[in-house]
Amino acid sequence: MVDSPKAVGIDLGTTYSAVAYIDEANRPQTLVNGEGDLITPSAVFFDGQDIIVGKEAIKAIASHAPHVADCSKRDLGQKRYHKTIEGREYPPEAIQGFVLSKLKQDAERLIGDFQKVVITVPAYFDEVKRKATQDSGYMAGLDVLDIINEPTAAAIAYGYHQGILNPEKKASESQRILVYDLGGGTFDVTVMEIRDQEFITLATDGDVLLGGRDWDQRIVNFVAEHFLAEHNIDPRNDPCAEGRLWRDAEDAKRTLSAREKVSIVCDYQGNASRVELTRDQFEEMTGDLMDRTEFTTRQTLQASGLGWGEIDLILTVGGSTRMPMVEAMLTKLSGKKPDRSLSADEAVAHGAAIRAQTILQESRGEPPPLRIKNVNSHSLGIVATDQKTSRHRNAILIPRNTSLPATARRTFKSQREGQKSVLINIIEGESDSPENCTRLGQCEVRDLPDNLAIHTPIEVRFRYLQNGRLTISVNVEGKEKQHEITRENSLSLTQLDGWRDYIHGFDTGA
Ligand SMILES: Nc1ncnc2c1ncn2[C@@H]1O[C@H](COP(=O)(O)OP(=O)(O)OP(=O)(O)O)[C@@H](O)[C@H]1O
Ligand SMILES: [Mg+2]
Repeated sequence: MVDSPKAVGIDLGTTYSAVAYIDEANRPQTLVNGEGDLITPSAVFFDGQDIIVGKEAIKAIASHAPHVADCSKRDLGQKRYHKTIEGREYPPEAIQGFVLSKLKQDAERLIGDFQKVVITVPAYFDEVKRKATQDSGYMAGLDVLDIINEPTAAAIAYGYHQGILNPEKKASESQRILVYDLGGGTFDVTVMEIRDQEFITLATDGDVLLGGRDWDQRIVNFVAEHFLAEHNIDPRNDPCAEGRLWRDAEDAKRTLSAREKVSIVCDYQGNASRVELTRDQFEEMTGDLMDRTEFTTRQTLQASGLGWGEIDLILTVGGSTRMPMVEAMLTKLSGKKPDRSLSADEAVAHGAAIRAQTILQESRGEPPPLRIKNVNSHSLGIVATDQKTSRHRNAILIPRNTSLPATARRTFKSQREGQKSVLINIIEGESDSPENCTRLGQCEVRDLPDNLAIHTPIEVRFRYLQNGRLTISVNVEGKEKQHEITRENSLSLTQLDGWRDYIHGFDTGA
């Protein structure tokens, strides 16, 4: 018998990642890493000839901070990771590639070789970051079947536990759920409807630069200010001392989820300070962060057209939802206690594994156990010139929260006889001014037919796929062709292959 490909899902987190697969009994199972842990820190330690990923990399921050890359997910979409390591600049997706490579190698020790995976991304990720995530999978030697939104993955895991995915079970009543996902680096809120076996996103919003790290940062600053006042030196000036402080701050934050009070010791250059922090103080110093998530939650509910009375369930996912202030805020806001029955660490990876299984089943011609309907989290636009003011503006083609797949067409007319090319700047964002939007790339239609008559229509078709990725096709004189997007911050296929070979050369497994 030919071994059928395994359905593997990866939750590639800012701070922690997890891998799950579907076992012989058709259940999603988290695969422990080489160290025996369910989750792996998404950190990479460049140790001379060696690359070490995970827990050991986090430990190395205390002594070798400049050699450790962490939170690279926050830099996806940028050309370079914000820190130079051993004099070398890395694209953030390559660092993510090392993390994925470790996850792959460790998982293969348990379930044998595999390539095909589904990777999750924050719902609020723009197209550029989505592509970068797929590219990091490619660099790690994976075949990324699809990327899905983290809140959708969590809702799928919830659906599985409720028995909604069981084809024998009669179609249950539809349920409307609000998923509040606060992880280590990103925040997403999504309103979904689960009807029969369909997961339909109604509205989504978020913040890709808001997560547990920002709560940690407040503790780091609080302790450092104390230390500075007491000893007149700032531990934040030394990357290793700052790294130790981060580690202790995160630890203290976790303690405050269970206890009312914690003390943190900061030891630097022979001086020590012991600082006490109560849960009340912590909640006060991070109140503005909590308010931001509350504001976004309200906005998303409004965008979905629903009121709290129509929401059947609030699902919390992401490690940071363990902070008591999250449950308190959501309960106050909605009048309902959030459901915390899902494992905050594993649900997203489980949902991704179930999605991977669906794709494999579909490819074998079997009926899929579930369907997903997504929306775009950012408006798609092109840079247009205002006729009156000659200023550039964002001409929106596909507004945010449009059901996917979605298509928009724009017809440009050639401006002169024999025109050879047309250049279109593609952006994502809500602002009227292109400078405040994300530059997705350019579509330069170069191969226009010879001797093209003036005013010939050139139709450009923009199409968002279900997973938020964009494709473009161009139609001139009845001939339609797929068109490449030239991207500023993306790697070429040759560069990707170079990194794939490079990463492959390291033993990143435990
Ligand atoms: N008991 C706890 N109390 C408070 N915070 C916690 C607790 N346990 C974990 N966290 C925080 O949860 C975050 C990690 O959550 P999670 O693994 O869901 O995020 P991630 O997947 O790394 O990030 P993202 O999804 O944003 O990319 C960290 O900031 C961690 O400090
Ligand atoms: Mg996460």
